[in-house]
Amino acid sequence: MMPGIRVLDVGTGTGDMALFVAYSVGPAGSVLGVDSSANMLQAARDRAEVLGLENVQFEQASGEDYAADVQSFDAIVGRFSAFFFPDVVAGLSHLRTLLKTGGRASYSIWTPPEVNPVFGIPRDALAPYTTGQQDPDAPSPFRLSGAGLFANVMKEAGYLDVIDEEVNLYQFATSRDAYWQLLSEVSGSFRQQYCQLSEEHQQAVKQSVLEQLSQYETNGVVRVPARARVVSGSSN
Ligand SMILES: C[S@@+](CC[C@H](N)C(=O)[O-])C[C@H]1O[C@@H](n2cnc3c(N)ncnc32)[C@H](O)[C@@H]1O
Repeated sequence: MMPGIRVLDVGTGTGDMALFVAYSVGPAGSVLGVDSSANMLQAARDRAEVLGLENVQFEQASGEDYAADVQSFDAIVGRFSAFFFPDVVAGLSHLRTLLKTGGRASYSIWTPPEVNPVFGIPRDALAPYTTGQQDPDAPSPFRLSGAGLFANVMKEAGYLDVIDEEVNLYQFATSRDAYWQLLSEVSGSFRQQYCQLSEEHQQAVKQSVLEQLSQYETNGVVRVPARARVVSGSSN
């Protein structure tokens, strides 16, 4: 990010991106992080205070219809949040109007669980014990996750020069048991489904996760790939 620019972080969560960008744009620039969750924003504000960053602000609002002056941001970022918009095309289209001429927006999304082991491992472990197909159009981390789908939505929303890049990330743990701990304690959606199972099925799920993890274990350290997609486009 260029020093001095004004950036909007949509669905900022606990502010990772906003805080990083605040450093990049420097004191002459500024960042606004918006999120629908008050709890997330409190954590983001606390972190900004600890870091002594004065060029970042946070506001509780929905991202898809955030009320700001048109053409008031040089850049927009949205990491793992735009797939939650009720209507993604309408949301992205609205955000495009907030970009200054030549401004660029960049949205990160996940690839499907089939090619994304961080999500595929728990999904496959739970599959024999859970029923029901998810509505592919309902807000979820895997909505529009297939190759080219989000890029098409960006074009439909009026963005130009759309670039779709796959990015490899990794989740690390010091052992398979440590990874299991992380998954079962931190992942809300996994926990919710796992807790509803009988003790016997819970054991089977844990066993399946640990077995699947063995292919990603080297010298005791677990390194599970997570594949994201970063899709960016210009306002005009
Ligand atoms: C997976 S988290 C990502 C947080 C952050 N961007 C990051 O990468 O660490 C998704 C965030 O989007 C927020 N969110 C979901 N729907 C939203 C909406 N319609 N408008 C604004 N924020 C939303 C959630 O509250 C949550 O903080």
